[in-house]
Amino acid sequence: MFQPEDFIFHFNKEELPEQFTTTGEAPSNIAIVKYWGKKGLQISMNTSISFTLTKSKTITSVHAKKLSKPHDEVLFSFLFERKENPVFNKKLKDFFRRIEAYAPYIKNYKWHFESRNTFPHSSGIASSASGFAALAKIIMELEQKIRPENSPEFHLAKTSFIARLGSGSAARSVAGPVMIWGKHNEIKETSDNYAIVWNHLHKNFNTISDFIILVEEGTKQVSSTTGHALMQQHPFKEKRISIAQQRVIQTMNALETGDWEQFGKILEEEALMLHAMMMTSDPYYLLMKPETLKIIQSLWDYRKQTSIPVYFTLDAGANVHLIFPASYNNQIKDWLESDLKLDKNYISDYISS
Ligand code: DP6
Repeated sequence: MFQPEDFIFHFNKEELPEQFTTTGEAPSNIAIVKYWGKKGLQISMNTSISFTLTKSKTITSVHAKKLSKPHDEVLFSFLFERKENPVFNKKLKDFFRRIEAYAPYIKNYKWHFESRNTFPHSSGIASSASGFAALAKIIMELEQKIRPENSPEFHLAKTSFIARLGSGSAARSVAGPVMIWGKHNEIKETSDNYAIVWNHLHKNFNTISDFIILVEEGTKQVSSTTGHALMQQHPFKEKRISIAQQRVIQTMNALETGDWEQFGKILEEEALMLHAMMMTSDPYYLLMKPETLKIIQSLWDYRKQTSIPVYFTLDAGANVHLIFPASYNNQIKDWLESDLKLDKNYISDYISS
């Protein structure tokens, strides 16, 4: 296991290449057991476990030119879908400051980033997860050029570590198919500092679909950052943490034994508990919309009628993720389009092991 100190980096400026050009990409992820509440700088209160998606990605190209001497602050320009975005610029500034000790060479370059998502921005898909994971990959690709002797284990752990400092859930977007982030006493190699790959999916989980129904597009009324902060004083904080720790173990068991029913139960319990935390924090708030509840109720009816193992989860928003074996793609598509009349208002993605 690595400690944050292991990621501190020292170099001579002669070691740095004059220019660096590359493209980095990373997918979004969907948590089964959710990261909700922080302690310290981007450390989760509880362990989380997630699926890494396949198609919903951020793709970022970069051109970096070495400066004659390092600048006090990282010099960069960042275009998202060909446009400057002040909110992103502020987030990036904070991110570069946080990673400075671990990737100090970033100050020796002038960076130009161009980034885009393969999914609609603000569709409620975690674009900060894929965005920061892509950036972490880019930075670590440069580090690999400077230190080719680094082991693949170190490289992956540090990439996740760097991504985490941008956005907590980004720690889980650097690899797949299943990632675990946060120290768990019963799971070896887990760390608060970075996520690890978990690769014991039963064949029943070979290809898993995630159809994301877009209930609400645009910026959420209450950001995840605010939601995390409200967990500090939450009356159910301790109980929430202990339940999450148990559920991570139960999730691993279900995924390893191929038990869709057990898996689906945890998935839905977690989605509802996440939103219950929001409804019971001070101040309280709601991110589900009437449409969200309608879809959940229709899903429960549909599952009862058909016995298809299709379950839902939610992120910190109103959109509904339908998770089911990919062999049911056609049935679910039919149901969404003919019965729910959703037509094009959903994104179909998948998780592959
Ligand atoms: C509900 O990773 O977006 O999606 O660390 O502040 O960037 P920051 O938060 P973020 O929180 C994600 C919360 C969640 C659950 C999850 O993905 O585990």
